[in-house]
Amino acid sequence: MAAALDSQAVGLNKTIEMVNPGVMAMLSERGRRIYFPKMGILAQSAEARGKAINATIGTALEEDGSPLCLPSIASQMNLPKSAAFPYAPSPGLPEIRELWGKMLPRKNPGLAGKTFSLPVVSCALTHGLSVAAYMFCNDGDVLLTPDLYWENYDLIFGVSFGGQVVTYPAFNAAGGFNIDGMRRAMAARKEKKLVVSLNFPNNPAGYTLLEKEVPALKELLLAEAEAGRQLVVLIDDAYFGLVFEKGVYTQSVFADLCDAHPNLLAVKLDGPTKEDYVWGFRVGFITFGIKGGTPALYQALEGKCAGAIRANISNASMPAQSMLLAAWKNPAYEAEKRKAFELLKGRYEEIKNVLGAHPEYLDEFEPLPFNSGYFMCVRLRKSDPEKVRQKLLADHSTGVISLCGILRIAFSSTPTAHIGTLFANLFAACKALR
Ligand SMILES: Cc1ncc(COP(=O)(O)O)c(C=O)c1O
Repeated sequence: MAAALDSQAVGLNKTIEMVNPGVMAMLSERGRRIYFPKMGILAQSAEARGKAINATIGTALEEDGSPLCLPSIASQMNLPKSAAFPYAPSPGLPEIRELWGKMLPRKNPGLAGKTFSLPVVSCALTHGLSVAAYMFCNDGDVLLTPDLYWENYDLIFGVSFGGQVVTYPAFNAAGGFNIDGMRRAMAARKEKKLVVSLNFPNNPAGYTLLEKEVPALKELLLAEAEAGRQLVVLIDDAYFGLVFEKGVYTQSVFADLCDAHPNLLAVKLDGPTKEDYVWGFRVGFITFGIKGGTPALYQALEGKCAGAIRANISNASMPAQSMLLAAWKNPAYEAEKRKAFELLKGRYEEIKNVLGAHPEYLDEFEPLPFNSGYFMCVRLRKSDPEKVRQKLLADHSTGVISLCGILRIAFSSTPTAHIGTLFANLFAACKALR
């Protein structure tokens, strides 16, 4: 039998219950039990900070009190030792949390004046999603997602936390986001609580909502919340910012949902992994927003997140947080980012040009709607995607991903000059297999 709830968890739960009992109902069993220990080792260590003799810290220090480190490692670091070697706090460096929180309204003007939690640092988005599953997904809970989703959701929500991944067709007949399909899928579920995933730009499709599609999505979620459904909306913004067409929504839907309804908890999972091209750094953020959210509610949710992080990875990479913090304050950052964006946009445009110049390709494959992100997908008209993938590898020295009966092409990693050949190879492989 599980042990009784710790008094610190009880305290957080009371706060949440007082501000919004619906949020308590959204928490999983684990989410209710977890807390960030304010007593114990961390508290005692904090009390000893600045004392002449401090024998509380579980890292090793030099005789002069600086971090003890090996020159073969330190010589590779362009950071002060104190910004690289010690642990970061479980919820992340306070300064990076503040700064990311300030960057959000700059990137999403719709957030101006709205309240949301301080972002908590995760070990990149995978871990952010995993922490969200820890907090909100019980055995049997539903994760509702379009049928084109990042396959790791299965391991995180399904295998690790026992959730059911329930899908609806991502696109409607007009090639837009299938809001009616989402509505029908929601109506078919009788559970009071639903965890809903929204990922734009989408992996694998490379689709982001058009500006004109956003109000209908918001209306649907609002109507569900108004009817009493408790919605935990996970907004996976991994590819945020990479929008290549006019009329496509450039903001995160978090800006629209973070104050939509007291029954709708918006959980934003984002970070520099893809936004800033630092895949191996392993830094991400978890941010909460709900209508009527108070600082006390947000601090309680941040505390639970920090507890889940402490129980799991303890804390995210210190050197990565320090480097990112410095980069975001560097005046060159914005221009560098723009340059990287233009490179990816150029590849996106090259795909559009190649497809436009070769209408015959449509006999073999059609692109799924795409306008953003790292990827685009094609649906093969007559051939089996896995067989085509194998043929591309064997005969054309070309690698693509086969999933969900389609092929995913990562233009993010394909030099512009190879894009024409890639599609010519795909066409040849499809034809040869018929
Ligand atoms: C949609 C989506 N979410 C999350 C992630 C995980 O990102 P991270 O590397 O930051 O864990 C990915 C990575 O491929 C992704 O495609």
